[in-house]
Amino acid sequence: MIILGIETSCDETALALYDLERGLLGHILHSQINQLSKYGGIIPEVAARYHVQYLTPLLTNLLHKLNLHLKDINFIAYTKGPGLVGSLLTGISFAKSLGFALKIPTLGIHHLEGHLLACFIKEHNTNTSIIAPKFPFLALLASGGHTMLIQANSLGNYKILGETLDDAAGEALDKTAKLLKLSPPNGKSLSILAEQASEKNSSILAKSEQASGVPKFTFPRPLANQNNLNFSFSGLKTAAMLQIKKLDNNNHATTNTNTCNDNYDVYNQKMKANLAYAFQQAVMDSLVTKCKQALITTKLNRLVIAGGVSANKYLREQLLLLEKELLLKEQFNKPAIEIFFPKLEFCTDNAAMIAIAGAMRFIQGLSDQNLYIEALARWDLESIAF
Ligand code: KG4
Ligand code: ZN
Repeated sequence: MIILGIETSCDETALALYDLERGLLGHILHSQINQLSKYGGIIPEVAARYHVQYLTPLLTNLLHKLNLHLKDINFIAYTKGPGLVGSLLTGISFAKSLGFALKIPTLGIHHLEGHLLACFIKEHNTNTSIIAPKFPFLALLASGGHTMLIQANSLGNYKILGETLDDAAGEALDKTAKLLKLSPPNGKSLSILAEQASEKNSSILAKSEQASGVPKFTFPRPLANQNNLNFSFSGLKTAAMLQIKKLDNNNHATTNTNTCNDNYDVYNQKMKANLAYAFQQAVMDSLVTKCKQALITTKLNRLVIAGGVSANKYLREQLLLLEKELLLKEQFNKPAIEIFFPKLEFCTDNAAMIAIAGAMRFIQGLSDQNLYIEALARWDLESIAF
């Protein structure tokens, strides 16, 4: 039983083939990030056109790589929303027409459910066995468009415990990375720059940097002391923007009076790295603080991390520290909480997560009941319970 997963909610055209018994056979992805960077970001109409251009060759390529044929596909799962309607429509039309031609069922998947279930992906042909979480679990879902804490009671039954009041964590990282003139992918570039910060270097180097006066930065932790599970990142983003503007103004003043030299570039780069580090720390600390609060209030002992931001190294390190901190509080030395991280390639948008969600929903007996094409720009995750 082979399931084809299709993901086209934003600017990645992705396809995956998942075998119910063997696991993920393979997946393929085309990111439009370089093609869209010349426009300064995503233009929905352009993104949709690229999906149309890439879907067929990518599927042909994937089938060929796996030595499979169209007739081997038994079920198609596609992203129905939330996302850019034009982009979604390309994947949905492709899925529905292929399903019609092959006389096989299709199913629309909620993109966020795909992220939530990425931890369940079992890979065929790898020696690493996965330990999938059991329901119920708590999930932190942090991506470019969403930041939420979710109580996953059972497959398809999700309760949102808290969410961002303004920007998503990924959005704040992306916008700050752009102001720092980093090249896309933004959140990842910011985390790479943050690795060069004084805090991350050896103490001798850090001391010499301090002596040379490379400033460090601190940013607030919004809503940290509030007794709820919501997030807020727009104030933090503005604080970073003001700092960056100040640095840019200082740079202009300095380059106008001094001749620009290599030392100055190094100093500037270190200052940007310190800022990226402090900003990343503030965003990730906010996520970890609320995870801790949610674990305590819900008494759930499994935490699943999902969405593009869950690829962040600093976030993963901090969550492992939280796991240790809560372990110390346990009497019998058994893990107080277990944290489940998807493999890095399944954190950001991909079709394997749509295929696994399709596989799990297929086992539940779900499929589309008609050929109606419906793309949802917004879609309440709680509403998919049945
Ligand atoms: O889940 P995703 O691929 O797409 C959405 O559904 O939004 O998430 C994309 C987000 C972007 O904001 C990107 O900057 C962020 O995930 N991201 C990261 C990292 N990799 C991707 N943020 C921090 N550290 C990373 N390593
Ligand atoms: Zn996503």
